[in-house]
Amino acid sequence: MRKRCTALTLATAMVAGLLTTTATAYADDLDGRQIYDDNCASCHDGGRGPQRGAERWQSRLDEGSETLYTHAIEGFRGMPARGGNEDLSDEEVKAGVDYLVAPVEDE
Ligand code: HEC
Repeated sequence: MRKRCTALTLATAMVAGLLTTTATAYADDLDGRQIYDDNCASCHDGGRGPQRGAERWQSRLDEGSETLYTHAIEGFRGMPARGGNEDLSDEEVKAGVDYLVAPVEDE
């Protein structure tokens, strides 16, 4: 009996997990590079926003990555909220930001 309950709990947890992940644009695959290529590169590699790895990121990073996350999620001057893709979850936008600043952060 006890074993059955555990199995049931597990199954419920798995279904709940599936439901939460399918609600986002990229399921549970938080590949910052893919997210960036699909949603951010058009501007950030196309001259409309600071380019990936550009030195301009250093001063922005000095504000703290939380500020960058908030700006990317809520929008900031020429930067549209979530890069203009309302389907992106907070975690997905953050993964895109991490990828965007990674070359500068690693220095
Ligand atoms: C429509 C063009 C466009 C798209 C798409 C876009 N950005 Fe931006 N982004 C900008 C511009 C322009 C700025 C510079 C804003 C400024 O400082 O005036 C910016 C700035 C930023 C900043 C710096 C904010 C700060 O506090 O200085 C982050 C972080 C950022 N973008 C992340 C992203 C991510 C992640 C994506 C994809 C999910 C994305 N952007 C998609 C145009 C875009």
